[in-house]
Amino acid sequence: MAAIRLHRDIDLDETRRICVRTANSGQDSTPMTAFPDLVPDIFLVPYTVHDPDLCFVVEDGGRAVGYIVGCADTVRFATWFRDEWAPLAGRKYPQPIESPQSWDELWTYCLHFNSYPRMVVPGIEDYPSHLHIDLAPEFHRLGLGRELMLTYLKALRTAGVPGVHVCVSAQNPGGLKYYDSMGFRPIEVPDPAPVVWLGRSTDISDLIETTMVSRAN
Ligand SMILES: CC(C)(COP(=O)(O)OP(=O)(O)OC[C@H]1O[C@@H](n2cnc3c(N)ncnc32)[C@H](O)[C@@H]1OP(=O)(O)O)[C@@H](O)C(=O)NCCC(=O)NCCS
Repeated sequence: MAAIRLHRDIDLDETRRICVRTANSGQDSTPMTAFPDLVPDIFLVPYTVHDPDLCFVVEDGGRAVGYIVGCADTVRFATWFRDEWAPLAGRKYPQPIESPQSWDELWTYCLHFNSYPRMVVPGIEDYPSHLHIDLAPEFHRLGLGRELMLTYLKALRTAGVPGVHVCVSAQNPGGLKYYDSMGFRPIEVPDPAPVVWLGRSTDISDLIETTMVSRAN
């Protein structure tokens, strides 16, 4: 039986790999990058440092096969990311350039300059949390994404957070269908493209609970 527990530092080798294997609108970005830690240093690792109580893995056979990571308060997280995380993590990569073209140039630019304005936009006030969820491709469509989301929403509720939002690539139809089935609905933000902004309450009375995984910290 798969089990859900808090993310630990020893999971990072596996969870970084999963991040890279799913980072291109749900598809593998491995061939696109010379820096396999770069995208995880934006979308995975900082959450495990800033909000470790909101970062979970699903493990199977003793290894992490998927994760959900997020933050309770996007404004606080984005401020820390801009002021503390990006200057530190950014030292590992080439200096950003003004008009990024390649995958690595784009994410280096985002790490240094663009994460705060992409994260903090009008419209997210009722949905202060945000999250990222990724499973190794061979573990898709087994109900594990649903279980990870239930775990995350319960942890938010316990922490007193009323709502959560996500940004999903418009080129990720599977991801969009998943969020729809988990009760996420469009939220209004200015200039949303090229991503779709979705939000939901942390009241999970609309979601049916199942017991297909064990949960532990
Ligand atoms: C998106 C993702 C997290 C979903 O997790 P999952 O374990 O595959 O999803 P589940 O099996 O829990 O599915 C729950 C429901 O979501 C919907 N769903 C999930 N993936 C879907 C897909 N590819 N196509 C259509 N519906 C989908 C279904 O309604 C499903 O219920 P059902 O299987 O009873 O029909 C996972 O597929 C993944 O990691 N994808 C790559 C990375 C990604 O796209 N991340 C999210 C975008 S930011």
